[in-house]
Amino acid sequence: MYRTHTCGELRITNVGQQTTLSGWVQRTRKMGGMTFVDIRDRYGITQLVLNQDVNAELFDLANTLGREFVIQVKGEVALRSNKNSNIETGDIEILVSELQVLNESKTPPFTIEENTDGGDDIRMKYRYLDLRRNNVRSNLILRHQIAFETRRYLDQLGFLEVETPILIGSTPEGARDFVVPSRMNAGEFYALPQSPQLFKQLLMVSGFDRYFQIAKCFRDEDLRADRQPEFTQIDCEMSFIEQEDVLNTFEGMIKHLFKFVKNMDMTEAFPRMTWHDAMKHYGSDKPDIRFEMKLVELKEIVSGHDFVVFDSVPYVGGICASGCATYTRKQIDELTDFVKRPQIGAKGLVYIRCEADGTFKSSVDKFYTPDDLKNIAALFNAQAGDLILILAGNKIKTQKALCELRLEVASKLGLRDKNVYAPLWVIDFPLFEWDEDTQRFYATHHPFTSPNLDDLPLLDTDPGQVRATAYDMVINGVELGGGSIRIHDSALQNRMFELLGFTPEKAQAQFGFLMSAFQYGAPPHGGLAFGLDRLVSLFAGLDTIRDCMAFPKNNSGRDVMIDAPSKIDQVQLDELNLVIDLK
Ligand code: AMO
Repeated sequence: MYRTHTCGELRITNVGQQTTLSGWVQRTRKMGGMTFVDIRDRYGITQLVLNQDVNAELFDLANTLGREFVIQVKGEVALRSNKNSNIETGDIEILVSELQVLNESKTPPFTIEENTDGGDDIRMKYRYLDLRRNNVRSNLILRHQIAFETRRYLDQLGFLEVETPILIGSTPEGARDFVVPSRMNAGEFYALPQSPQLFKQLLMVSGFDRYFQIAKCFRDEDLRADRQPEFTQIDCEMSFIEQEDVLNTFEGMIKHLFKFVKNMDMTEAFPRMTWHDAMKHYGSDKPDIRFEMKLVELKEIVSGHDFVVFDSVPYVGGICASGCATYTRKQIDELTDFVKRPQIGAKGLVYIRCEADGTFKSSVDKFYTPDDLKNIAALFNAQAGDLILILAGNKIKTQKALCELRLEVASKLGLRDKNVYAPLWVIDFPLFEWDEDTQRFYATHHPFTSPNLDDLPLLDTDPGQVRATAYDMVINGVELGGGSIRIHDSALQNRMFELLGFTPEKAQAQFGFLMSAFQYGAPPHGGLAFGLDRLVSLFAGLDTIRDCMAFPKNNSGRDVMIDAPSKIDQVQLDELNLVIDLK
């Protein structure tokens, strides 16, 4: 028997018992004739004591142990004179009577401790060692618990988990596909699913009624803190439901998880905000509503003062940073540099300081009288001590830039407390997005999303104004999940394809199987998918979803541990009938 107890199990009640423990050497400390060894496993750490006077041979062996050696010890559980309240086994120690080295270890390239000395790259290269660290492992334990509880919850509501294939054709989520060449079908490729979207709709046609799957999804898109090329969705679909049913069911699930993970009772209904209001007030379709600082539109009030920057653009808007009038020139310059970054793309930043004495100082004093500035400040309801920050330009772009500025200022003001959770539903997304470059409409969600039936007449006259029956759940500025009610009527689906510029042949080639399935009695249906990685990160307070994935990719999409992607052999290329001709 390798062990009678784990390294996190023994307590004061075990004192006097004989025990056998197995685990890794966390560290050894030699203090005169005594050597202390901390032995660690997944469950905790226990202190071992070896006394030279009691057993010199064991004592000498203990002094040869290196970090991360795998050992087995036997001994008596004893009361510890010098208690350690930081660990659960801190009341006891083991008086070692037998010690065996089960395996030696090379010195690890970084310390296996909460605050490790290892940088990101080295930890990812040796991820199996990184995963020995408590804080990394605890994220994976939380992930397991959330996935397990989700399954339990959905099972109770009658949802069936059905696996869908990974080697498929293109799916309609709008990112680039990862593709896999087919050996048996020379020159042809599978695509990995960006989501199980089409299959879950087919399962509704098959009468499954309530489906879910904790599903791997693959998207070849630029990576960010909340994006990985391969990630996991809690993917769900329901039949004979309306938007209200979906929102209620999954608001219930998220509230349940808050109770389960955080012991928080979320008794209030999640607020709902239209996409239009989200953009207008927060410049984002995933507003962080932990704090106010709403965007205020200023075009009307600032126009006509010979200030060409404001006069020449369609949109001027600002935010009011509470208590920031004391910001120095340097601090304002930093914010200006922030909004001028290429990712944000603002041309400059105008400020108005609301001084303590009731006067105003601004970077545009030349164009606006003190009274003008006072009137602008009144629109923000600004108080003495506040700082107004203003951007101007193209409407959507400037709203988005103001959103980034709002978040940046809020972070500086400490308004983005990770222990405060502000959920909401964003609803009434536009059905289409117009793309200037290609001069055509794209589906905001995907081509199977139903228009709001009240807006059907607009499909012919003003498609850009049509609302989708689509919804996102947002918490603390993170899009946690999203979905829609689907089109189940073939004529409407064909009209959608037409508006999206699909020829009947192209629609048939890409989605023909779904369209034919819909001719055999598709029920009204809809659903949504949550990002499991984002959900776990939110609960664990992580800055990146990588930290709750066992083996994540880096920002260039590489797994540096297994060194993938990598070149393949000529033999494999030949089998696949592929010739590599890099441009
Ligand atoms: P959507 O594309 O909005 O919808 O994705 C649903 C949720 O998946 C998560 N997510 C990601 N997480 C990590 N890395 C990524 N690259 C990534 N991309 C998306 C987000 C997002 O809210 N089939 C539809 C759902 C539906 O209509 O039912 C879909 O995939 O949390």
